[in-house]
Amino acid sequence: MELTAVVTGAARGIGRSVVEQLRAKGYRVVAVDVSPAVEELAEAGRVVPMVADVTGEATPGDVIGRATAEFGRLDLLVNNAARFLRRPILATSDADFDALFALNVRPVFRFVKAALPALTETRGCIVNTASISGLIGVPNQSVYAMTKGAIVQLTRQLAIEYAGRGVRVNAVAPGAVDTAFMDEAREADPDPAASLAATLANHPIGRMSTPGEVARAIVFLAAPESGGITGTILSVDGGYVAR
Ligand SMILES: NC(=O)c1ccc[n+]([C@@H]2O[C@H](COP(=O)([O-])OP(=O)(O)OC[C@H]3O[C@@H](n4cnc5c(N)ncnc54)[C@H](O)[C@@H]3O)[C@@H](O)[C@H]2O)c1
Repeated sequence: MELTAVVTGAARGIGRSVVEQLRAKGYRVVAVDVSPAVEELAEAGRVVPMVADVTGEATPGDVIGRATAEFGRLDLLVNNAARFLRRPILATSDADFDALFALNVRPVFRFVKAALPALTETRGCIVNTASISGLIGVPNQSVYAMTKGAIVQLTRQLAIEYAGRGVRVNAVAPGAVDTAFMDEAREADPDPAASLAATLANHPIGRMSTPGEVARAIVFLAAPESGGITGTILSVDGGYVAR
């Protein structure tokens, strides 16, 4: 039996690595991203790319419908698409707040609802990409941290609500990861070099994690061999929250 997955935010960074690692493990994957670069993932086979905005009203139903139509089943949903916002709270507008919740939280809620009937049939699982910012206080990330805190709590709630129906729900909580997501945030800082130095100083291993390291944790949580793990928030943060 071939396992099947839906991964959002799959064109680059952590999501792309998740798709590549799932493919290497024999999964068939619907890879979703607003960027047409997601089409590149089709080249090596086993991946159905979908260019779609996760905030679209019809997107969750369309994506889950495509996965079940193509594969006949759904075993895994990886909610990974999100945007970062590093901004002092007094400089954060109501529009910033609304836009970040509209991308980082609402689609996760809606993808979960679209996928749960199919996941209940397969006794499948969900892995959400949260953040250490959803677990501890980090300066100038209040709204981003609120969105990731919401993902942490949704993960725990769903894990309990669906444990009896055989659906496992877990999350990863990355620290800084060496992706364009962080590069873009740093470039917007007044002193990018100082910002990078501060980031590295906060990570006891002295470096950012790689997208592959975070993806490996997601694939581990998703694996059928991890059947005893649900409601877990697995940090991949180079020791950040252990300090
Ligand atoms: N990079 C980090 O340091 C870091 C740290 C903690 C948590 N995270 C989390 O990891 C996840 C992935 O981050 P990344 O570093 O790989 O980021 P990234 O920016 O490299 O990749 C995110 C992907 O999501 C896609 N995306 C954005 N908006 C979308 C939309 N509306 N519809 C569909 N796709 C959309 C982007 O096009 C991009 O391909 C996010 O949930 C992020 O919050 C990242």
